[in-house]
Amino acid sequence: MGKLRQMANSLLAIRELDKRFGGVHAVKSLSLDIAAGEVVGLIGPNGSGKSTSVNLISGTFPATSGQILFDGQDMTRMPIGERVKQGLARTFQTTTLFGEFTLLEQVELACHTRYNQPSWADVLKISRATIDRGIQRDKAEKILTLLGLDALAAHYAAEVSSAQQRLLMIATALATEPKLLLLDEPAAGMVAKERAELAAVIQKIRAQGIAVMVIEHHMGLIMEVCERIAVLNFGQKIADDVPSIIRADPAVIEAYLGASD
Ligand SMILES: Nc1ncnc2c1ncn2[C@@H]1O[C@H](COP(=O)(O)OP(=O)(O)O)[C@@H](O)[C@H]1O
Ligand SMILES: [Mg+2]
Repeated sequence: MGKLRQMANSLLAIRELDKRFGGVHAVKSLSLDIAAGEVVGLIGPNGSGKSTSVNLISGTFPATSGQILFDGQDMTRMPIGERVKQGLARTFQTTTLFGEFTLLEQVELACHTRYNQPSWADVLKISRATIDRGIQRDKAEKILTLLGLDALAAHYAAEVSSAQQRLLMIATALATEPKLLLLDEPAAGMVAKERAELAAVIQKIRAQGIAVMVIEHHMGLIMEVCERIAVLNFGQKIADDVPSIIRADPAVIEAYLGASD
């Protein structure tokens, strides 16, 4: 097992995090650090606890035990909305679309809610009139430009490709002004060219000083964008190091790399 890094100035510090679903021990004593502005990959076989880890960090469901520290605060029992306000944003494996809004309006909507997955209730509360006043338009336009979606600003989400819908989901997450962005399989269903565009987007996000944790199966993308990679196997972290070390780690190869394409 590679050495477990402990950083003095972590933005995110997870300590001995555990999650059980009945008899399933999905995450086992996970400790992980992410520094401000760092891009960290989280990899592992299907069912190894990657999405569960993201769900615990983002507050989708509570940890069984352990601690989540973010920006010096204990976030372990914080509600989702409060975590978003503290600077934590995430995307989901499936996209959420609001068919009657354009790409620009969807990002504006996210700027208003500061929630990265607004519900219909939020949408109705905010109402079209708020968006039509254009208070958040400049900010939303800048985010769309960062994502390379500016030319599609006036299109409806249903009209753009699934890869563009995934980028839109990242755009709405960025609208909440995160310090850390959690991406759960952002390249799912993307072809090579789209993955290359996504890699460039992640690098641009990092250039803004935003830390990113990315779950991904495509090792090319992970090796290209990540400064550090943590590897899960059966809910347990088996390695945590720079890409060149991870690539050559026998335990990682046995658990994961050897079995992947
Ligand atoms: N909401 C849930 N209820 C019960 N079991 C779950 C739930 N979410 C995940 N699991 C289980 O936890 C384990 C880890 O799943 P997951 O975190 O989704 O893995 P990964 O994202 O690495 O593929 C699996 O055995 C999965 O079946
Ligand atoms: Mg998953």
